[in-house]
Amino acid sequence: RTVAVIPAPMTYGQPFMGTDKGPDLLLDAGINSSLTQLGWRVSSEPEVNPAIEDDGRSTPLAAKNSVRVGLGCKALAKVTHRAARGGMFPLTLGGDHSVALGSLAGVLRARPGTGVIWVDAHADLNTPWISDSGNMHGMPVGLLMEGMVPEGAGLLDVPGLEWLDKTWAGEEGWPKYTPEDPPPRLSPQDIVYVGLRDVDQKERDAIKKLGIRTFTMYDIDKHGVGAVMEKAVRHLLSKDLNRPIHLSYDIDAVDPAQAPATGTAVRGGLTYREAHFIAESVCASGQLGSADIVELNPTLSDQEGADQTTELGFQLVTSFMGKSII
Ligand code: ARG
Ligand code: MN
Ligand code: MN
Ligand code: MN
Repeated sequence: RTVAVIPAPMTYGQPFMGTDKGPDLLLDAGINSSLTQLGWRVSSEPEVNPAIEDDGRSTPLAAKNSVRVGLGCKALAKVTHRAARGGMFPLTLGGDHSVALGSLAGVLRARPGTGVIWVDAHADLNTPWISDSGNMHGMPVGLLMEGMVPEGAGLLDVPGLEWLDKTWAGEEGWPKYTPEDPPPRLSPQDIVYVGLRDVDQKERDAIKKLGIRTFTMYDIDKHGVGAVMEKAVRHLLSKDLNRPIHLSYDIDAVDPAQAPATGTAVRGGLTYREAHFIAESVCASGQLGSADIVELNPTLSDQEGADQTTELGFQLVTSFMGKSII
């Protein structure tokens, strides 16, 4: 099998510089050769341009840098779409979590039956209509979720996101939509959250209203990570045992003691082993078809913390890509 390793050094989805360093840190640490050792053929993709131009359009909505985030994600969606269509495993190296809007849109368009495991301290279920911060790394799930974007103009009101609207005219690599090939969207039953501990009030309301399955830190404490992952995988595969799974792994799911170098750290997170077990058990499901690792920001801690967080991210990737202990 072939993995397409896709560097996506996006920073415009949140306020800090530094998440653009994530891909190079993981690549310089030797992720491609580790993947090769695990038996993967590696297709090393060019960096998806982070220096994307703002075209000056603005919006009264809460969506900071929407043009840069939106157009960057469109470029990424084309790459993951092509890779998934070609039978490859698209592995996106972020970048802040807004990149998942692109990686997941491309994967969902190529493989509409995909189920998603979202490992994160946060739900990232905001939209420009409900976000308190306007930071688009808090929106990748919300923007793709059925029932989260208001009827009417909807995504057309967010400059940069036209490519996700049903009226999109089409261009090279991302054609217009047809009834058989509709805009990529997630249904509430197609995603499970693992590791939540910092969810905004409007996100909580939406989770309840839509009935999204959540496994919070409370559930992990109460039942253990083993039982939680069994239920999480079963929830997705109960619809179809053969559906592909996309894993979106935000490094801030892990406790800041192990992962200090990230922008929105929240205490009370996953232990080192819990973090690994989640990666290992998603791999063991046999259905993992695509993934993201995001929110590594080496500039937000001292050098030791940055090295430790990079090493953790690296090890998590090797774990979900097939490394076993024995
Ligand atoms: N819920 C907050 C917001 O929307 C924080 C989101 C953090 N997201 C992340 N990918 N780290 O601003
Ligand atoms: Mn670079
Ligand atoms: Mn997060
Ligand atoms: Mn996130």
